[in-house]
Amino acid sequence: MEKGKFLDLHRHLPSAAFVGVAALLIAALAGAFIFAGVYNIGADAPHYRPIYMALEQLRDHAITHHARNIVVPADLNSPARIATGAGLYTEMCTGCHLGPGLEKTEMSQGLYPQAPELARAQDRSAAEQFWTIKHGLKLSAMPAWGRTHDDQLIWDMVAFVRALPRMSPTQYKATIASAPADHEEMMKDMPSMKSMGGMHPPANAPSQPDGHLHSH
Ligand code: HEC
Repeated sequence: MEKGKFLDLHRHLPSAAFVGVAALLIAALAGAFIFAGVYNIGADAPHYRPIYMALEQLRDHAITHHARNIVVPADLNSPARIATGAGLYTEMCTGCHLGPGLEKTEMSQGLYPQAPELARAQDRSAAEQFWTIKHGLKLSAMPAWGRTHDDQLIWDMVAFVRALPRMSPTQYKATIASAPADHEEMMKDMPSMKSMGGMHPPANAPSQPDGHLHSH
């Protein structure tokens, strides 16, 4: 390139000092916006479009990245897994994610971001669903079920969730009915639960919410 032209171009580029000052100014404005508290953080109004898009990209890429080395068990489609998963799903997930033939709940309608209806089409891989169920999602109502359930049970949930879109309301009911009778039975192989005294407080303990959505 000719020396004269290069210098010409250079004159039109912003100087490092200008870029630095502009960056500081933008950071200060963003800081002022946050500290002023004017952003509507309420779940009953949508995010500004750029914020929504940034969060969506952040979530999607993070899930893909974190799930990249997860090995899917070969028996994911086994009826035993699907049955156990059905029991867990109906106890813990329907309040937000609904199911074939289920009406919207008060909770599902109040969520932002909305919980996807998992009985409709899903575009996540089994590994990505496993990671999401185990770790939950920040800035959404999706809990980290890995705090209280081991990997085997979480794969059971994935197995059921992946079978869900093929189920009619009748098949859904039948699958739920075939599930192991209660949570204790599904959790029986989980050592950490035993050391924590089981999922439920002893009979004489003051009652406390155990985080489940079921009402029995
Ligand atoms: C309190 C509400 C709530 C409960 C209960 C809940 N979820 Fe979620 N879940 C969400 C929300 C909200 C999202 C979407 C978050 C987002 O888009 O950022 C989500 C996302 C997911 C996703 C990812 C969906 C996708 O394709 O992107 C899966 C899979 C999932 N949940 C499974 C489960 C399972 C299994 C259970 C029960 C063990 C469960 N969830 C219980 C609220 C809930």
